[in-house]
Amino acid sequence: MSDRRDFMGMALGAFTGLGALGALYAAKRTWDPLPSVKAAGFTKLDLKNYKEGELVTEVWRGKPIFVMKMKKDMLEKAKKREDSTAKGHKDIERLIKAGDGYYMVCVGLCTHLGCIPGYRPETEDFLCACHGGQYTETADVKKAPPPRGLDIPPFKLEGTVITLGEEGPEYKKMLADGITLPV
Ligand code: FES
Repeated sequence: MSDRRDFMGMALGAFTGLGALGALYAAKRTWDPLPSVKAAGFTKLDLKNYKEGELVTEVWRGKPIFVMKMKKDMLEKAKKREDSTAKGHKDIERLIKAGDGYYMVCVGLCTHLGCIPGYRPETEDFLCACHGGQYTETADVKKAPPPRGLDIPPFKLEGTVITLGEEGPEYKKMLADGITLPV
């Protein structure tokens, strides 16, 4: 009889132990950050996957990031225009050159009061509906009140892949030249 009780006790103990382990495992899964959260500091984008003239909104550290490959006519316009924030820079210097293309990669938050501007394909520019601010296709400021173009997030370029959140030489040069402010 006592053997049977011992056996029942052991079985119950094992069962309870397993239950506790299961609960611990479930709790750990709940506490562990999701893979997307773990990698939240950095976002890798392969620019060769983007189509000319199509605005795509990505996310980096919870912020919207506008990415668009420039069309030929956009590039021509940008080559002629001066950058509004820097002394004598061409607007095209706000773009990232990767592979065979030029890309606009910017934080999609208005530099006036932080609304999200909308892209207008028909006029190839951005309108911020909050106070009527406008940006060019390279996201430089076109009409006040925004004080400057959309900020460029820190990036590191390797081939056509950019890692947002890392500071490569191309980004450091943009900062040094006053083309963007640190984000
Ligand atoms: S927040 Fe964009 S114009 Fe004011």
